Amino acid sequence: MCGIAGYVGKKDGLVVVMNCLKRLEYRGYDSAGVLFFSAKGGSASNGQNDQAELKKSPGKLTNLEKKVKNSCATPLLASIGHTRWATHGTPNETNAHPHADCHQKIFLVHNGIIENYRELKEQLEKRGHKFKSQTDTETVVHLLEDNYDKGATFEKTLDLTLKKIVGAYAFGIINQDEPQKIYFARLGSPLVLGIGTKEYFLASDQAALAGMAKKIIYLKEGQRGWISPTGFKVWPNKPIIERLDLNTEVAQKSGLEHFMLKEIFEQPETIKNALRGRLSTNGVKLGGLESVSKKLSKIKNLEIIACGTSYNAGLIGKLLFEEISDIPTSVSLASEHRYQQIAHRPDTGYIFISQSGETADTLAALKKIKTQGYLTLGLVNVVGSAIARETQAGIYNHAGPEISVASTKAFTSQLTILALMALCLGTKNKNKKELARELTLIPNKVKLILKQNDQFKALAKKYLQFQNFMFIGRKYNYPTALEGTLKLKEISYVHAEGIAAGELKHGSLALIDPHFPIFTLTNKNSVYEKMLSNMEEVKARGGKIISIATAGDRKIASVANDVIYVPKTLEPFEPLLNSIALQLFAYHFGVLRGHDVDKPRNLAKSVTVE
Ligand code: F6R
Repeated sequence: MCGIAGYVGKKDGLVVVMNCLKRLEYRGYDSAGVLFFSAKGGSASNGQNDQAELKKSPGKLTNLEKKVKNSCATPLLASIGHTRWATHGTPNETNAHPHADCHQKIFLVHNGIIENYRELKEQLEKRGHKFKSQTDTETVVHLLEDNYDKGATFEKTLDLTLKKIVGAYAFGIINQDEPQKIYFARLGSPLVLGIGTKEYFLASDQAALAGMAKKIIYLKEGQRGWISPTGFKVWPNKPIIERLDLNTEVAQKSGLEHFMLKEIFEQPETIKNALRGRLSTNGVKLGGLESVSKKLSKIKNLEIIACGTSYNAGLIGKLLFEEISDIPTSVSLASEHRYQQIAHRPDTGYIFISQSGETADTLAALKKIKTQGYLTLGLVNVVGSAIARETQAGIYNHAGPEISVASTKAFTSQLTILALMALCLGTKNKNKKELARELTLIPNKVKLILKQNDQFKALAKKYLQFQNFMFIGRKYNYPTALEGTLKLKEISYVHAEGIAAGELKHGSLALIDPHFPIFTLTNKNSVYEKMLSNMEEVKARGGKIISIATAGDRKIASVANDVIYVPKTLEPFEPLLNSIALQLFAYHFGVLRGHDVDKPRNLAKSVTVE
């Protein structure tokens, strides 16, 4: 949540920072701001010919773009920017970052939460500091000013200030005494350093630097430092410099209208990437788990912990592990698990699923489990992220950056990897070969669903006036139904609920009438007949039925009002196909309702606050 960008080098820093912010806007989009130095002058002098210009705007980045349209930053001087998802204080211009100290000498952008800001603010106000905003962040810039006044170097000032802060942060800081430098620090919120030729970048996510920086440093917890056009410094421990191989393509929509659509259409490829090198005629090989293979072989139970869409993937994972590997598995919401009293579970391995690898609740649950000595595994998309680092071993999705706030390709790659893990652990499963073979056929089957894109659009148009939807399914299709509701809710802002089909008549059936359409996930599988009976019950009460069904099923059309056909697959892999069908429906429904589906209201990617 919140995106940070910074640049020092020969180019116009304002242009570079605004470009990076555009790629980071998925992290927060309720206000934005930049600080740069300009020869034209602005609010406060830096003691030379250039003056610091602070520009902020509420709303999306386009508002800020309009504001800085005629400005440019002086080369070699530092620029920082921020795109915000509000935690403390309404999203207005005053609360937007960068924040400044009393004398407009120090400027700071922040991602995270300062937990002890009330105490700090009270102390600082007593010492005469004047606060402008309602944010927790502003406390830090005044604290820097307070410590700097004592005549320390700014490096020492930063160290001293960080010691007094409790909470999570990634900071980008400019001190007008050193206008060529951007200071930074990270703890609990992501921050990377990009290295180009005599130019350096700061960003919340590597995707912001694609095509610009050649090398990257994934800053570790507690690391801090500065960048300037002539070099950089990181302390207290030595940074690891890695190559950055991302091309600009990953941060662009490739001619499609939205990132969400681009990411939905990438799924044949991302599922292949999740399988690549891991599945062969010799079986499943998961390199990321090799270091813990002995421990893993002794595991008798699994517990999956995650949030949101990743939690829904976990619910499907449970069914995969129980059916394919015969391992009892439970699934917990990280936000609940972290505060629960958990009974001792000997021989349990924990799997943490997170696209971003930064979700605060999942990370907190992981840290808690680690202290109890259990085996911890990560299923993460973002390389080098906190959850990837904190877990003992794990598997990367290799799905590429997911920019749209609504998770699509990360979800299906999570499902693919969970299936691989289940096959890997299911040493005694007699159907392993058949399951493995079917898994390799999924990408082509996904293509057949994507070909029906126009049909999903027509279906969305037909049901556009409805405000309530129900999604039902059994077994693997129950969590798939839950994921279908989440997608629809988050990008369309309509009410949707997911019910295990067998639970309908225990209460929720009362909701059904001609104004409450119901999606049924009725593939030809072990619960097909049961699902048909549920559909009949709905039909008898005047409910409108939209079914996802298996290609070639003629019976279903006589019960459902509308049918979308997906290719036949084995039951454990049906979620891989059905969820994509539901993603396409949700996408068109949201677009037709006029919403910015990549940036749904009130939400942001990477929930790094509790
Ligand atoms: C919904 C969505 C969220 C995330 C959740 C966890 O489309 O994307 O529900 O799944 O915030 O995020 P990660 O997977 O990054 O831990």
